[in-house]
Amino acid sequence: MEHVLYFEELDSTQTYLSQHANQLPHGTIVCANRQTSGRGRYGRTWISAPGGLYFSVLLKPVKTDFLPNLTQLMALSVCRALEDFNLSAVLKWPNDVQVNGQKICGILSEALFNAAHNGTVILGVGINVSQQGLEKIDQPATSLKELGVSADKTALLAGVFRYFWEEYDALLARGFEVLRPEYIRRFAALGKPISVRNGTQTVLGIAEDVSSRGTLLLRTEKRLEEIYIGDVIV
Ligand code: BTN
Repeated sequence: MEHVLYFEELDSTQTYLSQHANQLPHGTIVCANRQTSGRGRYGRTWISAPGGLYFSVLLKPVKTDFLPNLTQLMALSVCRALEDFNLSAVLKWPNDVQVNGQKICGILSEALFNAAHNGTVILGVGINVSQQGLEKIDQPATSLKELGVSADKTALLAGVFRYFWEEYDALLARGFEVLRPEYIRRFAALGKPISVRNGTQTVLGIAEDVSSRGTLLLRTEKRLEEIYIGDVIV
């Protein structure tokens, strides 16, 4: 793989890329063996002891219409890479990856919006590889090792990006529709009762579909609601 920078330790691969976004080309991947200030969605801490695969990728998309779907492309790419290790990975909308109902990967998307970086996106990914006895943060967690798989982190990283770049241009040109069949195939909550939390609000319903925009269609008591953002609780 081209443009991969490896570090033994960083505060956060996200922070590193946001600080160096000017000097680095589109597609640069930064990988750290451990992070001292790893961060997750909603301001949560991402515990980043050695043993996990922690990386971020700098994206300078030529077209910005479908930026929110980039996290879904990454989640799907992680699923496929895990499937190559014979794990049956599923998606928890919008972008967590689970195996056996436990979180194995989290994805964070941060956009840089200013004159110099309009539309620049940094996607950060944490995959639990050889940690054991992981602390529950927002949901139970597992690792490849706990699932009986010993994986080489470089091979796993290469697998993720093989799938990611394969679909990247098509996604930017045509949107989530390109990913939808494969995404839905791995969408664990389909047809099930779920709650979706966004800030202090929680909505209950049946996960009816994922739309051609990548939004969640939730059948509540009153209507079919289109959900753009939130945390699914099964
Ligand atoms: C989540 O599920 O809340 C998203 C977690 C994202 C963690 C990764 S690890 C690599 C990158 N650097 C960070 O500080 N966070 C992301």
